[in-house]
Amino acid sequence: MNFVKITEVGPRDGLQNEKAIVPTDAKFEFIQALAKTGLQHIEATSFVKKEWVPQMGDAEELTKLIFGGNPIDPEIQLSCLTPNIKGYEKAVSLGFKEVAVFTASSESFTKKNINKTIDESITAFLEIFQRAKEDNVKVRGYISTVIACPYEGKISPDKTLTVAKKLLDAGVYEISLGETIGVAVPSEVESLLNVLLKEIPSRLLAGHFHDTYGMAISNVKQSLNMGLRSFDSSAGGLGGCPYAKGASGNLATEDLVYFLEREGYHTGVDLDALVNASSLMEKALNRPLLSRTYVAKSKAKESS
Ligand code: HMG
Ligand code: MG
Repeated sequence: MNFVKITEVGPRDGLQNEKAIVPTDAKFEFIQALAKTGLQHIEATSFVKKEWVPQMGDAEELTKLIFGGNPIDPEIQLSCLTPNIKGYEKAVSLGFKEVAVFTASSESFTKKNINKTIDESITAFLEIFQRAKEDNVKVRGYISTVIACPYEGKISPDKTLTVAKKLLDAGVYEISLGETIGVAVPSEVESLLNVLLKEIPSRLLAGHFHDTYGMAISNVKQSLNMGLRSFDSSAGGLGGCPYAKGASGNLATEDLVYFLEREGYHTGVDLDALVNASSLMEKALNRPLLSRTYVAKSKAKESS
């Protein structure tokens, strides 16, 4: 089976790293357009502290639109980030049936990102797992800095393995491996996966590559070769990296879809519809998007 699952994280990871704050209505229009591309998994927002991530400060208003009078196709799995029970309760009370918890392989990053040690973060998640079971809510788990940390440098694969096993034991249905700063090359991804795959089946792992150095597609190929069939990406390559000035954001969904389909995998995503969705954010942000496939497709459309 050559199907590859794509989790679209543009509305969350992309927009949280954009300088401009996109108005809630424009975010909703973007999510509606994404929902018409064939994407089946869309991460819409984060229930975090406004002071920490102002770009996600409208999570409640946006969620009311998403599950409101003009709802998104219920077949599409919509999710959001919840760092603790407070975020979880809000998200689920407003309609989310899937949430994502997030921690890291590096202590310094975890402290700066969620103000906890790694162990404290997992303890805080236990309450979420318990409630999620009762509420029939799916929980995904992110581990950031799986290859490198902006504060600690190179991270040993064993650290990621330890965190991944704890999250899986606690109840996440999938681990998304966050290459947070986009510095990894395929040999490093191979070393990481060699360690993880000894104890964790590939179907429980997803690749979450940022494209700071343009290595994301090569890292996807390495992961595919080792059995992974789930990847995160962001429409148009939205976002940036707070640790690398001028850097591109997540791997662009257009680049991922183009690559996968040409390589004989199936994604179910319509590239032209995706380009239309991304163009909404290009307008809202008033800056050109960096995805090579997005640019090529947009130019081809202009000249046709
Ligand atoms: P804290 O200050 O340690 O929280 O922040 P606290 O539990 O001590 O509570 C302090 C105050 O915050 C209280 O309010 C709480 O009610 C409130 P007060 O009583 O003082 O008025 N509070 C909240 N408010 C709104 N939403 C909440 C919430 N929780 C407590 N959920 C906290 C801890 C985790 C909340 C904070 O550090 C935070 O919001 N961090 C978010 C960081 C973030 O969103 N980072 C980006 C996402 S991760 C990522 O991008 C990586 C990823 O893409 C993978 C990769 O690429 O690596 C996933
Ligand atoms: Mg990310």
